[in-house]
Amino acid sequence: MSRENPVLLYACDDVDTEDWLAGLRRALPLADIRVWPEAGALEEIECAFVWRHPAGLLGRLPALRAVFSLGAGVEHILRDPSMPPDVPLVRMVDPGLVAGMNEYVLWAALHHHRQMPRYEAQQSQPHWAQWVPPLPQQRRVGILGLGQLGGTCATTLSGLGFDVAGWSRTYRRLAQVKTYAGPDELPSLLARTEILVCLLPLTAQTENLLDAHRLAMLPRGASLINVARGRHVVDADLIAALDAGHLESATLDVFREEPLPASHPFWTHPKIRLTPHISALTQIETAAQTLAENVRRLYAGEPMIGLVDRRRGY
Ligand SMILES: NC(=O)c1ccc[n+]([C@@H]2O[C@H](COP(=O)([O-])OP(=O)(O)OC[C@H]3O[C@@H](n4cnc5c(N)ncnc54)[C@H](OP(=O)(O)O)[C@@H]3O)[C@@H](O)[C@H]2O)c1
Repeated sequence: MSRENPVLLYACDDVDTEDWLAGLRRALPLADIRVWPEAGALEEIECAFVWRHPAGLLGRLPALRAVFSLGAGVEHILRDPSMPPDVPLVRMVDPGLVAGMNEYVLWAALHHHRQMPRYEAQQSQPHWAQWVPPLPQQRRVGILGLGQLGGTCATTLSGLGFDVAGWSRTYRRLAQVKTYAGPDELPSLLARTEILVCLLPLTAQTENLLDAHRLAMLPRGASLINVARGRHVVDADLIAALDAGHLESATLDVFREEPLPASHPFWTHPKIRLTPHISALTQIETAAQTLAENVRRLYAGEPMIGLVDRRRGY
């Protein structure tokens, strides 16, 4: 065991295991990469690369120096009681993932801006009617979360001329984006938003944030794009807001339970368009480079990219 050939554990419930291993071996050619459950002596493991790892596993690794999430979210690791309290936790920061999210949010925002849900409904009738969309500068987009992903999407949409505002925990400055912060300013952000994009991390403060009360703060006819986590939205409240005509439509990529059960009403709701958590998939090649750089930084004692503040939960 040394900084030249660290012992790494890959414990991931993922269909792309072979691709991940090939990418990790290219990025970390000297590392001893072991794959759960054939991991050899657990007391030799220094770094764990995990995604939906087995419960209790992290507590069985006495030499553990860092845990790396293979996805951008870390709530599954923070909820694991076996995660040692003093071991650094690092989320996935991947340029490929940011690019994917930027594309998806742009597509979904344009879909709502250009009133595509109305045209889809008209096609199913069939019915011919034209609607003049507002100019981008007349369209108010609101982004919850102005971090790596939300900040990038806000900049892209404002660059196209949209009237963009964003909300974060602490004040953020972004050119051409009106920014709000903290719970007290959320109602103002919601009241001005016609297309709402959720890009928050899932924490105790953000879980169930989009409930009946908050959805009612949006102006009538607004749309929702949820690309963060399913637990940000109260499903029944969203359906009620759509059925009442308060919200016009929703694009959902994330759900409380994934895969979304076949019996869930989201599947067939006429005002919901959904995708199976594909808005931003980790790109193995670029992600493996970031992981390798972080392993190098860990052993060099340098700050790692995407280090999670465990107290604030993201
Ligand atoms: N659907 C997918 O495929 C997919 C892919 C990747 C990520 N995601 C989700 O997207 C989330 C965001 O990713 P990211 O990389 O952009 O995270 P990030 O860089 O950590 O940014 C998080 C943003 O949310 C804000 N925030 C956190 N808690 C808040 C609160 N209580 N009130 C108001 N704002 C709050 C932060 O505020 P501050 O700026 O003040 O810190 C920050 O602006 C991830 O956690 C993950 O759940 C989904």
